[in-house]
Amino acid sequence: MTHLQVQICLESVTAKLKLSRAEVIEILLKNVNPNLKSILKDLRVEYIGYIGNFYDIIKVIGEGTYGSVLKVQDQETKKLYALKLLSNQAKTTSFLEEAAILADLSNYKECNRYIVCVYDIFNAYYKNKIRTFVKMELIEGHELFYLLNLMYKKNISLPYDLIRLILYSVLKALSYIHGRGVAHRDIKPENIMFNSKYIKLIDFGFGCTNKKIRSTCSQILGTQMYAAPEIFRTYSSFTNNYVKLDYIKFDMWALGVMILAFINVEYFEDRYEEDFNKHIMETKGSFMKYIPHIRDKIDAPDIKYILENLLQFNPTKRISAKEALKLINKDKIGTVKELNEFYNSCHKISKLSD
Ligand SMILES: Nc1ncnc2c1ncn2[C@@H]1O[C@H](COP(=O)(O)OP(=O)(O)O)[C@@H](O)[C@H]1O
Ligand SMILES: [Mg+2]
Repeated sequence: MTHLQVQICLESVTAKLKLSRAEVIEILLKNVNPNLKSILKDLRVEYIGYIGNFYDIIKVIGEGTYGSVLKVQDQETKKLYALKLLSNQAKTTSFLEEAAILADLSNYKECNRYIVCVYDIFNAYYKNKIRTFVKMELIEGHELFYLLNLMYKKNISLPYDLIRLILYSVLKALSYIHGRGVAHRDIKPENIMFNSKYIKLIDFGFGCTNKKIRSTCSQILGTQMYAAPEIFRTYSSFTNNYVKLDYIKFDMWALGVMILAFINVEYFEDRYEEDFNKHIMETKGSFMKYIPHIRDKIDAPDIKYILENLLQFNPTKRISAKEALKLINKDKIGTVKELNEFYNSCHKISKLSD
């Protein structure tokens, strides 16, 4: 049968049965010819199936600003994946942009090591509505946020070799995406996951190329705690926009704040915001000069130096990921295994005293 015949046949069937194309295709695919799917693809007919026809939903693993993340199993291959489900209202370009950026990034080797791999973006029926899904590798692990929380609750500090490991891993991810003109825009411990094999950057929900800052991307702000000072200086109520912001530098500040949290989680939870707000309008020097009690206690010259330069008020003076990578003491980077052991020991202490 030629494509044209299939097309005509399809139109007449949809008219006769008073069903949509998608519904007819769904029935055809289920019942007739397994090769039909590729023919329909050629005809540029979007096939929208029910998510439950392809994946078994095992559980919800994350609830976020853009929608939930599901742990699923592919019915054919039995492989496990994470599916990020877009909330109804959030069906915007920023989400599609995320997938496009990530799917592209996934073609590169380093994505396997420091960046979550994205395989596909597609529409499917879920709870009787058409929804957009991003299919990602499933990271069976924890957010760095949980670790930070445990450290805070139990007043435990992270050894410098492990702080260096986190710094190094995020720098590797950032130097890679920044090198391709992509900013993450929401660097924070919730968006970094670790397991026994790796530390990976996830959630490119705010990802956007520097070129697009003035359009869709300028509407969105990352998490306040990690936001760079220039964002508060450059907001123009006139245009209702953030003008001339370099979001690559924005990521570098956020990383600095996050590392500061790992160095002294108590300060971060209790005082950071207050101190930062005092200096929000400054344009010179490093935030570190205002916290000498923390700066002087840092017993790792490379981390201290990098931190001074990540937390520069002036974004043009702020160090890049590539430069920071050169400054890190590579002989003293802890292993992911050690990070897991540390996490497990915190967990035990936490359980004992709860
Ligand atoms: N690929 C993944 N594998 C495992 N868990 C994930 C994955 N992606 C996200 N999660 C979990 O879901 C949470 C929310 O996902 P995220 O992409 O950060 O969405 P949001 O934009 O809503 O913050 C994450 O913080 C994490 O705990
Ligand atoms: Mg997130």
